Order: sequence, then C-alpha cells, then structure tokens
Amino acid sequence: MSDILDLEPSLSVSVRDTFNIDSHLKVPAFSEPCEFVPAVDEAYQFNADVTLAIIAGFAFNRRVMIQGLHGTGKSTHIEQVAARLNWPCVRLNLDGQISRLDLVGKDAIVIRDNQQVTEFQEGIIPWSLRRPVALIFDEYDAGRPDIMFVIQRILERDGKFTLLDQNQVISPNPNFRMFATSNTIGQGNLNGLYHGAQMLNHAQLDRWDIVTSLNYLPHDDEVNIIKARVPEFTDEKLLNAMVSMAQLTRNGFAVGDLSTLMSPRTVISWAENFQIFKDIQTAFRFAFLNKCSDDEKPLVAEYFQRCFDEELEESYMHLSPTSK
Ligand SMILES: Nc1ncnc2c1ncn2[C@@H]1O[C@H](COP(=O)(O)OP(=O)(O)OP(=O)(O)O)[C@@H](O)[C@H]1O
Ligand SMILES: [Mg+2]
Repeated sequence: MSDILDLEPSLSVSVRDTFNIDSHLKVPAFSEPCEFVPAVDEAYQFNADVTLAIIAGFAFNRRVMIQGLHGTGKSTHIEQVAARLNWPCVRLNLDGQISRLDLVGKDAIVIRDNQQVTEFQEGIIPWSLRRPVALIFDEYDAGRPDIMFVIQRILERDGKFTLLDQNQVISPNPNFRMFATSNTIGQGNLNGLYHGAQMLNHAQLDRWDIVTSLNYLPHDDEVNIIKARVPEFTDEKLLNAMVSMAQLTRNGFAVGDLSTLMSPRTVISWAENFQIFKDIQTAFRFAFLNKCSDDEKPLVAEYFQRCFDEELEESYMHLSPTSK
C-alpha cells in the first residue's frame, strides 16, 4: 500500500464549474484519486450554503461543523465534495466505544526479524495529522466528553499534537483538514430525538470556525434529490405528494404533535420500497408508519389523506404486516 504522505493538491478547480454554485471561489484539488478518496456519486445534489462552507474548509483550512436533523445529507455532503477534489478522507464515527488509545495510539507487539518487539502504533489522529487527509468526525455529539478533549488542541489552526508517551510533537501536514457532523448543537438529547447525544463543551464548540446547518431542504430541492437517488421513479405527482407528506410530519414534529418525523432518507427509502412493492401504502408503512407509535398513527393517516386524497387502509393502523 503506497503511502499518501507526499501527495499534494496540484490543481485549482472552479467551484462554479465543479459544483454548479454561483461563486468565484477556486479550491485546490489533487490530480488523481487514491484509495482514501470516496467514490463520486454523480447523482448528488449540492446545497449551496453547505457546499460553500465545506469548500472554505478545504481551501482556507477552516474547521467546519455541519449540524442538522438526521438523514439530511451531512456526512455525504463532505464526502462528495472531497470526492470531487480527490481529497483523501478518513471518516471516524465517534461512537461511545472510541477510546483515547484509538485516537492517540498504543503500544502493540509486532514481529520484527523473528523477534517479538513492542512498538508504538499511531492512532488515527497522529496518522491523519501527518497526511493530506480530511478527518471527519461523524456523530460529533456522540463522543464521550473525556475523548473530546483529545480533539480540542488540534482544532486550533496550527494545532500541534503532543504524543506524550513518545516525547513527540506533531505539526499538521499543510493539507490536513478537519470536519464534523452532528445532530445537535451541543444541548444533548433535548428534543428526545437523539438518544445518546452528549452535551458539548462550549470551549470546544467555540473552536469550530464555521458552523453551518443542514436541516430540511426546500420542497423542489428535496424532490430533485429523490429523483436523483431513485431515477426509476418517474411519477412527479406522486413524488410531490410524498415530499409534502414528509413536510407535514416535520411541521407536526415542530409543534409537538408527533414525536418522530420523516427525513429525506426516509423519503428515499419510501421511494425505493415503492419500486419493490408497487404500492404506495405498503411502501409507506414499511418506510415510516411502522416507526410511529400507535397513538400517533391516526394523525399520520390524516396527513396521508391530505396529501394523497386516499385513506390509509385501516388495517395498516394496528395489525402487523403479515396479518393483513
Ligand atoms: N443532496 C443530496 N443529494 C443526493 N442524495 C442525498 C443528498 N442528501 C442526502 N442524500 C442521501 O440521503 C441519505 C442520507 O444522507 P446522510 O447519511 O449524509 O445524512 P446525515 O445528515 O449524515 O444523517 P445522520 O444525521 O443520520 O448521520 C444518503 O443515502 C444520501 O445519499
Ligand atoms: Mg451522518
């Protein structure tokens, strides 16, 4: 496996041409993809604001955090920008099991010249810092508080990193970049949607130069995303009704009528399920209705009626799928 230590961006690409966004910005890019570059998703629809924030991260070494409700395209946005710049990426899910040793490194026993020797193996942070890599902390608000302090120092621009056990100070590669995604903005599971989300330390939040949010998109943008994701779906009228339905659940959630809501990811699943079952109600039941609690189903049925002008079959409301 060739190392990417010496790779450098040698191109400068126009944001207008590459992302179809009205901007004069140019952004450095690598001439070829390596194994760490995510695959390009040709169907991806870039949101102008979020894309510009991510571009600023790559071009001007800003630390960028994207916050927003689930399934809105936070993680994939960063990857798809990186894919177009051929910028190597490492996406790290900050789940509760990630330990300081995973991040910083640990002594490990290796075989060298038939001898067992103990050697320090760098964790993901020092490894990335030395390389032209975009390190993405996914689910930033799921990280345990003690772990988050490891990250604090490198959030500063020239953020050197001290490997205490090794008496080493690592200066970041000039093309090292850092991004994060999170569902909350540090208040923990306040709205009940994000069980497991931690409160974030504000000194830490303060170190992110750009915080942008990606909540739900304008109706037409969302329709375009579904069309791009599920090109077999050609019924515009149905598609518009589906997106309106999702919008109603979000409004219902916002005013406290529903405890769950449909994300763009749910709408994509619904459209995909429709390709399988060829029935909008069955597809809907599998994609969303079965995730709702029984006492909220009548309200969801009312939304459905409003958008599709047909009743959600009564039997779907209480019985299990097989007993229909
Ligand atoms: N702008 C878009 N264009 C095309 N597909 C999109 C877009 N936004 C989201 N998607 C699709 O929606 C799904 C959810 O996206 P993603 O996983 O990036 O969401 P997320 O915001 O990171 O969600 P979570 O908060 O749950 O981690 C993916 O399948 C992705 O491909
Ligand atoms: Mg995500």
